[in-house]
Amino acid sequence: MTIKEKLIPDKKVCILGLGYVGLTLAVTLCEIGYEVFGVEINEKNLRKLKQGKAHFLETGLDGRLSSVVKSKKLKLFKNIHQKFGVSVYIVTVGTPINQYDQVNSLMMKNVCEEISRFLKKGDLIILRSTVEVGTTEKMKNEVFDKSHKDYEIAFCPERTIEGKAMIELRNLPQIVGSNDPKTTNRVSQFFSLMTPTVVRVSSLETAELIKLIDNCQRDVNFALSNEIAEISDKLGVSAFEVINSGKLGYSRTNLPIPGPVGGPCLEKDSYILDSCLGKENYSPKIIMSSRLINKNQPKKSIKTLKHFCEQYFTSERIHITLAGMAFKGDPETNDLRGTMASPIIKEVLRNFKNCTINLFDPIVTEKELKDHFKNLKFEYSDSIKKAFSQCSLFIICNNHPLFANIPITSLSEIMKKPGVIFDYWNNFSNQQINFPEKIKYVGLGELGKAIKEIK
Ligand SMILES: NC(=O)c1ccc[n+]([C@@H]2O[C@H](COP(=O)([O-])OP(=O)(O)OC[C@H]3O[C@@H](n4cnc5c(N)ncnc54)[C@H](O)[C@@H]3O)[C@@H](O)[C@H]2O)c1
Repeated sequence: MTIKEKLIPDKKVCILGLGYVGLTLAVTLCEIGYEVFGVEINEKNLRKLKQGKAHFLETGLDGRLSSVVKSKKLKLFKNIHQKFGVSVYIVTVGTPINQYDQVNSLMMKNVCEEISRFLKKGDLIILRSTVEVGTTEKMKNEVFDKSHKDYEIAFCPERTIEGKAMIELRNLPQIVGSNDPKTTNRVSQFFSLMTPTVVRVSSLETAELIKLIDNCQRDVNFALSNEIAEISDKLGVSAFEVINSGKLGYSRTNLPIPGPVGGPCLEKDSYILDSCLGKENYSPKIIMSSRLINKNQPKKSIKTLKHFCEQYFTSERIHITLAGMAFKGDPETNDLRGTMASPIIKEVLRNFKNCTINLFDPIVTEKELKDHFKNLKFEYSDSIKKAFSQCSLFIICNNHPLFANIPITSLSEIMKKPGVIFDYWNNFSNQQINFPEKIKYVGLGELGKAIKEIK
């Protein structure tokens, strides 16, 4: 039975904001059989989308996007039109944080006002962007109710990760939050064609909080490992060994290895939660001190690295390669939003006053790097070999699988000597590698041990 034959009231959908979240959802809904009207305000990106091409890298998206655009299952516009005749609006605009770590909800407000002008009796609005708890109710009271239309509203967070969204959209449980059981049923039916599991929760606020807690929980876990890295540096032991040996056959310890924590979602959700709790005169202590640990990690680790490097480098100019610029490497992406490479570079420049910077990323292009790191003077390496040959200090910033699989011994041979490889992801910490003379490899949480060994 096709979707058209199923007794589903909502077959025509408008998705507003065709970024990572909106576009992957739009293509997925088209493939299920929904008729999707995509609205994207950025004209440059819209033009690209109309050619069937995504304006960002997402595994499995390109061919499928081109197919649904060609077959006109996905129709693309800059604004909403009455002629769409949709009964469902899904909001997927960005909710970034500003330099003061406050969430910018302006795009959300604007798009809700736009929807409000087109609302018809019985329409359903689903907010999907990550928001402060209470935002859906606020949009209801301050925007949609003013339309005096009889509409329904729900909050259904996106919980996929970039790079796996096209798979996870069809597998992950979908949280459905509404204050009205009738709406919960309607939305559950809508999403039940997309994913096998729909989790109904009892209020809008519950669904909003679940999304924030998902990411806060990950932030806290990583912070604990990053704190263990700091502790290990102070005590002169390897954090990698402490964590891995400690959890071997001992399931009650379940820690990730330490590493930089960044990106467009993970870091901001703690701030969003903190901000909305401000109204209750409460700040989540574990969550916010974890955030601070993760935020300050580049400052502390690069300072310790400088201390370690002082044993090797004299005062002459140091050539430094930073490798892995995207906010994460696995699943791979070219997304530079919120990348920890930015604060790492800042700390490198602060600590190594007389240095040249060389950047390498397996995915991100030179142009994308130049657009992102606008005021940074840097050289670009288009191959890992060149990246090694250019430097005496090689810093692995993200967890792209390429770094775990490089021929590290032969690449370190072509580095300038003396040379140091500092690896934020401990790719080679558990391998007994004989590095060439005058080359030192050290992972995050192993600097203190390495400094102790020199003395
Ligand atoms: N990226 C992820 O994997 C992910 C995962 C879970 C949740 N989220 C959350 O989902 C939301 C969207 O994230 P994203 O990464 O897709 O953001 P994004 O910035 O990639 O995409 C948002 C899009 O909305 C467009 N837009 C803004 N105002 C508009 C308007 N009035 N009309 C039409 N289009 C408009 C922008 O031009 C942009 O293309 C955020 O709240 C984010 O925190 C993202």
